[in-house]
Amino acid sequence: MEKRPNWTSKYAFIVTAIGSAVGLGNIWRFPYIMGQNGGAIFLIVYILLISTICFIPLMNELYIGKLTKKECVGAYESINRNFKYLGALNPITGILIASFYFIVGGWIINYIFKSFFINKIQNYGQYFSDFIQNPVYPCILTLLFLFICIFYTAKGVTKGIERVNKILMPLFAIILIFLVIISLRLPNANLGLEYMFKPDFSKLNTHMILAALGQAFFTLSIGMGALLTYGSYIKEDKSLVRSVYTIILSDTTFALLAGIMIFPAVFAFGLEPNSGAGLVFVTIPKIFSQIPHGNIISFAFFILLFCAAVTSGISILEAPCATFIERFKTSRIKACCIIFGMVSIIAIPATLSFGVLGDLKVFGKTIFDFLDFLTSNIMLPMNTLFLCLISGWYLKIKGKNILNNKIMAFLFDTGLKYIVPIALICLIFMGLN
Ligand code: PHE
Repeated sequence: MEKRPNWTSKYAFIVTAIGSAVGLGNIWRFPYIMGQNGGAIFLIVYILLISTICFIPLMNELYIGKLTKKECVGAYESINRNFKYLGALNPITGILIASFYFIVGGWIINYIFKSFFINKIQNYGQYFSDFIQNPVYPCILTLLFLFICIFYTAKGVTKGIERVNKILMPLFAIILIFLVIISLRLPNANLGLEYMFKPDFSKLNTHMILAALGQAFFTLSIGMGALLTYGSYIKEDKSLVRSVYTIILSDTTFALLAGIMIFPAVFAFGLEPNSGAGLVFVTIPKIFSQIPHGNIISFAFFILLFCAAVTSGISILEAPCATFIERFKTSRIKACCIIFGMVSIIAIPATLSFGVLGDLKVFGKTIFDFLDFLTSNIMLPMNTLFLCLISGWYLKIKGKNILNNKIMAFLFDTGLKYIVPIALICLIFMGLN
C-alpha cells in the first residue's frame, strides 16, 4: 500500500480543488440551467447562495478531511465506528456520478474531432441524437475518457493529479478568455449580456431558488467525498478559510465567464437560450458553423470542455480510489483497475440508454437520467446533510476554532446546525417531487 500522499504546496492544493469544482457543471450545466430558469434573476440568487450557504458545507468537508487525515470511510469511522456506513455512501456516489459524467466526457472527445468538419453537418440536433443513439461509438469514447482520467489517477496524487491540474487549469483559463472575447465581438452580443444581467423579478420562485442551490452544490463538488479526500492531503496546519473563498470565487468567475461566452453567441444567432442539455452540443456547434474560422474556435471550445471534465473527473475517481487503497490495503494501480471495471459496468448500459436500452426504465427514467437524478438530487445533498449533522451536532465543531471573525463564526455555527440542513432537506424533497 502506498504511503499517504500530501500536496507539494498550497498552490497545488488550491489548483486541484478548483480543478475539481470547475467542470461540466460550469460550462455545460450552469448556462443551460440558467437559461431554463430565467437568466439574470437566477444568477442573482445563485451568487447569493454560493457566497453564503455553500461556504459552510464546503469548509466543513475540507475541514473533516484535514482533521482526520483519512479517506471517506476512515474519516467517518474515526468520528464514530457506526458512521462508517454513512462514509461509504461517498465513494459509492462517486462511482455512480462517474458513470454518467464520463459519458458526457466521451461526447466531448467526439466533438473535438468533429470540430474540423463542423460546417459539414446539415442538422445539428439530428446529428447529436444520431450520435448518442449509436450503440458502439459513444461506448468506446466513454471508456476512452474514463481511461484518460484513471490513468492520471493511477499515477498518484503528486505525479498525476497535481501535475494534470497544474497544466490543464491554466490552459482552460486561457482558452475561456479567448472565447469570451470572440463571443463579445459578435453582433448583438449585448442582448446576451442583457439576458444575463438584467433581472426579471417576476421569474423568482422557490423551484428556481432550489435549482440554484442544487447547481451550487454540484459545481462546488460538495457531497461525494472528493473534497474530503483532497482535504486529507493537506500537510501544513494553515487556515482553510482563504482557500475556501478562492475556490468559490474562482468557480463562480468561471461559471460567469462561461455564461458570457455562451449567451451573447446564442443571441447573436437568434437562437433560444433555454434549449436544455443540448445547448452545448447542438446550439453551440451550430453557431461555430456560421462564424469565420469556426472549426478552430469549435476545437478550442471542446478542448476547454475536455480540460474542465478531466480535472473534475479525476477528483470524482480519487475519493473511491483512496478508499480502496486505504481500506483494502491495495496498490493504487489495483484500486484504479477495480474502479475502471466498476464504472464501466454501469457506464456502458447508461451510454446505451440513449439508444438500444432506451426502453429500459428505472423508476420511469432511462438509466442515464436515473443516475443523474439519483446522484445530483438525492445522494449529493444527502451526504452533505449527514456530514453537516455529524459536524454540527455530534462533533460539535465550533466556528470560532476555524474562523477568526466572531460574526462569521456565529453564522457558521447556525448554518451548520440549522440553515444548511433545512435547505438540504428542502432540496431532497424537491428532487423527489
Ligand atoms: N464540480 C464538478 C463540475 O462542476 C462536478 C463534480 C461533482 C465533481 C461532484 C466532483 C464531485 O463539473
